[in-house]
Amino acid sequence: MTTTSTCRLFACSSLVLLVATAGCQKPAPPPAPVPVPAHEAYTPGLGELMSFQQMRHTKLWLAGDARNWKLAAYEVTELKEGFDDVVALHPTWKDSPVAPKDAIPIMVNDPIEQVRAAIDRKDSKAFVESYDTLTRACNACHQATNFGFNVVARPKTNPYPNQVFTPEK
Ligand code: HEC
Repeated sequence: MTTTSTCRLFACSSLVLLVATAGCQKPAPPPAPVPVPAHEAYTPGLGELMSFQQMRHTKLWLAGDARNWKLAAYEVTELKEGFDDVVALHPTWKDSPVAPKDAIPIMVNDPIEQVRAAIDRKDSKAFVESYDTLTRACNACHQATNFGFNVVARPKTNPYPNQVFTPEK
């Protein structure tokens, strides 16, 4: 081996060393994403979200009817959030000619705000009127989404024996 080739070899191996060392100084790559276990990735179906909406719609009536304005305000907010979840999780639905993402802002946002305004004013008469308007909006959307056989109405009885709807004294 000649001096030149030794030098070349040296130069080459130190370059490899340099590259290797540089490699070592690089920040560690971000950790690979941890797969989400199936039970955490669970998305409620539209029918399930609607069953929650049914419960809130019922409780909203029971609270407003009892003039429990704090509880009614809570339930109307939950109802609004439930519709936000529907838009986010089910923007479209099967082969429905009307998409939930389009129908909800047009059909239910305004009636919900009317109910909220009646609650804020502690106005029972306005509460009843706006509640019925909201209920008609629920059914109008069921009609629009080919689900018109599913009709909701003002509750006639209280299915929650373990909850107090009258306001705190
Ligand atoms: C986007 C329009 C739309 C609006 C607004 C809407 N719904 Fe629905 N609702 C649907 C559709 C579509 C289904 C069928 C979902 C499914 O089963 O996959 C449904 C299903 C239901 C069901 C049946 C759930 C079950 O599994 O038994 C109930 C109860 C219900 N809705 C109540 C309501 C109430 C109460 C409101 C108003 C506060 C409301 N919905 C507003 C579209 C709507």
